[in-house]
Amino acid sequence: MDQNIIGIFSGKGGVGKTTLTVNLSLALAQFNKNVLAIDTDFKMSGLGLHLGMYQFPVTIADVLLSEKNLLEAIYIHSSGIRIVPAPLYVKEIDTSKLKDILSAPFLSENFVILDSPPGLEKNVIDVMSACNSAIILTTPDIPAITDAIKITEKLKEMSIPIRGAVVNMNMKDSIELEDIEDVLGVNIIGVIPFDKDIKKSLSLRQPLLSFNPYSPASIEIKKIAAKIINEEFKPEKFLFLKRIIKGIKK
Ligand SMILES: Nc1ncnc2c1ncn2[C@@H]1O[C@H](COP(=O)(O)OP(=O)(O)OP(=O)(O)O)[C@@H](O)[C@H]1O
Ligand SMILES: [Mg+2]
Repeated sequence: MDQNIIGIFSGKGGVGKTTLTVNLSLALAQFNKNVLAIDTDFKMSGLGLHLGMYQFPVTIADVLLSEKNLLEAIYIHSSGIRIVPAPLYVKEIDTSKLKDILSAPFLSENFVILDSPPGLEKNVIDVMSACNSAIILTTPDIPAITDAIKITEKLKEMSIPIRGAVVNMNMKDSIELEDIEDVLGVNIIGVIPFDKDIKKSLSLRQPLLSFNPYSPASIEIKKIAAKIINEEFKPEKFLFLKRIIKGIKK
């Protein structure tokens, strides 16, 4: 079976790529998929930090330098997420070999989620070349959408299948979703609301899905994961109430 390597891209920085990588990985794992999240943002690595992990003897940089094997760079967070971190600091790194590294046979039947750097520099192009499908992430504002258009055009030029766009930090009075779809020319596969619990989970070094599995953003991320694996996801309503009733009836 082929590798299923999904790149998360945004033109603009800070729109939530690492947050989505962490939580989408956990959501897919909760659907019983094997998942590996890889930090490909070498200049501003953040995947490990989002999980409160930062001391790694081996990182993806060592693998790119052919000094270590990818298997040696895998770490497991207490939430169950498997990650390959990037180093906290690296001056320059050649990312051209990323595609080769990710063709490792042991990754077949895995979902590999690539947390990419923002922009369209060569390292981003290398991440695009290494994935076999892409998700475009944007916030619902003009600067982020404008940059997302550039990313979309590049992915199309490179013939990389686009699974869809995800709108993050959505709010009531944000730009209409149909307008975002129109300008991007890509279907929206998920809309994640602005959720205060994300900052709280970050300070507790936990993915949002572990911290609050029923928060509005968690539910939306689970729906995106379900779409990716073509499963139906029906969030349970009144779960809290059901638990109380169960407790009373015991
Ligand atoms: N849906 C959301 N609601 C509220 N805050 C969010 C949401 N998504 C992300 N954030 C917050 O926005 C900030 C940026 O998120 P994140 O680091 O995931 O972005 P990024 O795209 O990976 O950034 P960079 O381009 O620098 O790598 C973080 O503080 C994160 O907690
Ligand atoms: Mg990031």
